[in-house]
Amino acid sequence: MDYPVVGASGSTDTASAAVYNKNCATCHGANLEGRPGMAPPLKGISNHWPSVEEMAKYLANPQGYANADARLKHAGDGYSLKMPAIPMTDAERLALAKWVLAQP
Ligand code: HEC
Repeated sequence: MDYPVVGASGSTDTASAAVYNKNCATCHGANLEGRPGMAPPLKGISNHWPSVEEMAKYLANPQGYANADARLKHAGDGYSLKMPAIPMTDAERLALAKWVLAQP
């Protein structure tokens, strides 16, 4: 299958782009722009995330992580859906987090 390359970062991690398109784009948008009422944009959030490892931890257990993080708890307001934990290996989560943070 031919996945569109999301973003314009020049990232060559097409495996993570494919994971994003399959598991995340429905809620967060094909270009990480977010969808009103569904999920927030994932653009420009690198200032909230100190490291790829932290975002990978979040992806492993979004609601548990958000409960201990006032900003993320608040980020959930206004969305009828909840950020789900999507089954992936640790390596896939790290690569995906790196890819998300590399998008412009
Ligand atoms: C069912 C819809 C849905 C899907 C699918 C989904 N998310 Fe989310 N995501 C949300 C919502 C809603 C929030 C806001 C926080 C909350 O309510 O949990 C969120 C929050 C986030 C955040 C935190 C945003 C911030 O401001 O720091 C990140 C990062 C994120 N999602 C990444 C992903 C990735 C990567 C995937 C795919 C593996 C994904 N999401 C799949 C709905 C979704």
